[in-house]
Amino acid sequence: DMPLKYLANQINLGIGAALETAHLQDPLFKQTLIREFSQITPENEMKFMYLQPEQNRFDFSKGDQLVDFAVENDMTVKGHALVWHIQNPQWLEEGEWSKQELKDILENHIKTVVGHYRGKIAYWDVVNEAFDDNGLFRDTLWYRTLGEEYIEMAFRWAHEADPDALLHYNDYSTEGMNTKSNAVYRHLKTLIEKGVPIHGVGTQLHLTGDHPVNDARIARNIERLSELGLDIHFTEIDVRIRDSNDDSDLQDQAQRYERLTQLAAYYPEVDLITTWGVSDKYSWIPSWFKGYGRALMFDESYQPKPAYHAVQNVLNEA
Ligand code: G3I
Repeated sequence: DMPLKYLANQINLGIGAALETAHLQDPLFKQTLIREFSQITPENEMKFMYLQPEQNRFDFSKGDQLVDFAVENDMTVKGHALVWHIQNPQWLEEGEWSKQELKDILENHIKTVVGHYRGKIAYWDVVNEAFDDNGLFRDTLWYRTLGEEYIEMAFRWAHEADPDALLHYNDYSTEGMNTKSNAVYRHLKTLIEKGVPIHGVGTQLHLTGDHPVNDARIARNIERLSELGLDIHFTEIDVRIRDSNDDSDLQDQAQRYERLTQLAAYYPEVDLITTWGVSDKYSWIPSWFKGYGRALMFDESYQPKPAYHAVQNVLNEA
């Protein structure tokens, strides 16, 4: 049985996992990550509050550790996330900024961060979660002061700072066909027509075990996005299930993973899939969704779950 990264590589698919630097101290975490995955995304440590804790004081120590780890182990890195409305530093949240001041702050942040990692980070989540489920621009500190142009500016500044990095828009509940994914599609189309440097789009895929994956609607969305010339990433896959010892939940979960992998294997435009963690030992789910957990492909002892075998089978046959 071949590790996932070799199987995925045969069809030019990257397979990654989100992590924190602290997890690398856990030998089984590190082993499993290196054995199975070809890409990493920092789960938190490249967010604004960690990279620029005080105005104009940047802290790249954790991010650098992750990048060094990736280089040593021949993995790519997806930086996450330059512009978001969550996990911003207190100085930024509490300041009262004029339009020009906020514009300067964002430009400085993006150019300093992307410039620091120039040539070392393959992909950036430039803008994360800019739309509400109702299809309107989300009312964030960026949108309120800068208007919708902040999105376009962010991509242009990131591109100036590293012309080779592949720049992505990332959001959740956007995998299928719905009001929100329509809004994302239309906005990206507008940006591309204006010549804004945007190369791809990520859909997060934090799923639950009891909701089926609607293949047909996801397929239609992938097709319209690829017609824009965009690469597509499945960026934050996890499938949470209820806390219990019920094995049928693990089978349902495996089926969700299987469907997603089939879509990724079928569409060449999907060139990276990332799970939001490696093992159930470390996952954001239990603290955010009471009564739910076990969302990843490896259990707390790093044993592969049915989801792992399902992904492996699909990749084997692809
Ligand atoms: O950094 C502090 C630490 O100093 C403190 O000791 C500790 C005690 O609670 O908290 C730490 O901060 C936590 C941080 O994760 C780092 O561990 C925050 O409380 C916690 O809220 C934060 O959660 C993260 C969440 O984003 C924030 O909204 C999750 O780990 C992370 O998985 C999650 O990731 C997001 C993606 O970035 C975007 N898409 C959705 C996804 C899930 O919400």
